[in-house]
Amino acid sequence: MELKNSRSRYSTSLIGLHWLTLLLLVAVYACMELRGLAPKGSDLRANMKSLHSLLGLCVLAVVIVRIGVRWNAGAAPEIRPSTAAYFLIGMHAAAALLHHYVMRDNTLVRMLPRGAAPSKNWTGSEAR
Ligand code: HEM
Repeated sequence: MELKNSRSRYSTSLIGLHWLTLLLLVAVYACMELRGLAPKGSDLRANMKSLHSLLGLCVLAVVIVRIGVRWNAGAAPEIRPSTAAYFLIGMHAAAALLHHYVMRDNTLVRMLPRGAAPSKNWTGSEAR
């Protein structure tokens, strides 16, 4: 089992703890979301609540272990600058489109050159 991060991958222990956290969180939520299927006052319902609390505490325990393991695992794998930049550019563009087509405000239009803007008094209603 690899205990140290390499330049390109997290350590085996960190990868395991990462996915264990996800599994626990899904189980914690599932216990609460599915408790409605069990009749009120039933043992099953009470058990689901207890399991929820127990698994929630496990999340806390795993987080504490994870911080310790992370501390000892060394530097995090490098993300290549180009990958990070592409990611940021993509997120930036997605946010601009979200503003324009979903929130329908004029954030995008305010950054367009004068001639390219749809109208002088853009209110956002034009995107509707
Ligand atoms: C990662 C940790 C946890 C998450 C994400 C979480 C999430 C939730 C969610 C989504 C609900 C349902 C709220 C609702 O539908 O109204 C809930 C309810 C509840 N949780 Fe947690 N929880 C966590 C940990 C814990 C822990 C550690 C305990 C106790 C030690 C706990 C005790 C409870 C209780 C008593 C309820 C209310 C149950 C009821 O409706 O009677 N939870 N939690």
